Amino acid sequence: MTESLFSKYGGFSAIGKFVHEFYKKVLAEPSLVHYFKDVPMQRLMEHQTNFLSIAMSGPDRYEGRDLLLAHKRFEISEEDFSLVAECLEETLDEAGLDEEDIAAIMAVVGTTREQIVSHDSK
Ligand code: HEM
Repeated sequence: MTESLFSKYGGFSAIGKFVHEFYKKVLAEPSLVHYFKDVPMQRLMEHQTNFLSIAMSGPDRYEGRDLLLAHKRFEISEEDFSLVAECLEETLDEAGLDEEDIAAIMAVVGTTREQIVSHDSK
């Protein structure tokens, strides 16, 4: 049996650290910071940690909202989505994950684009 990326990289405590670094990068981006102005970051980081656990084939403890519902009011552009995805990719790279593992995680993250990016026609 192949080990999950969740166990390979140290489970929830390691993912919690990645998530912390990830939001540091996101909040350091002038074009992104306004989205998070009124957001309870502690709760968001817990939800994001649980989301990434699933993306790394770990346990499913996700209790956040459906991603479409959570992001709809922000009218997020393709460009901002890509910037957030880059922040995550950079974080995982700096944390020393193997390139192919980062690619696998980013592929899962990529599947959320349709739910997160705002489409004028909807
Ligand atoms: C790259 C893929 C992304 C993933 C996997 C993701 C995932 C998540 C998750 C799991 C939550 C928690 C939902 C909840 O608490 O119910 C969330 C909330 C949030 N996300 Fe994202 N997100 C992504 C991209 C973005 C982008 C591009 C932006 C803005 C530019 C953004 C802004 C937010 C904000 C502001 C919240 C808090 C919403 C609230 O508490 O009302 N996210 N996201």
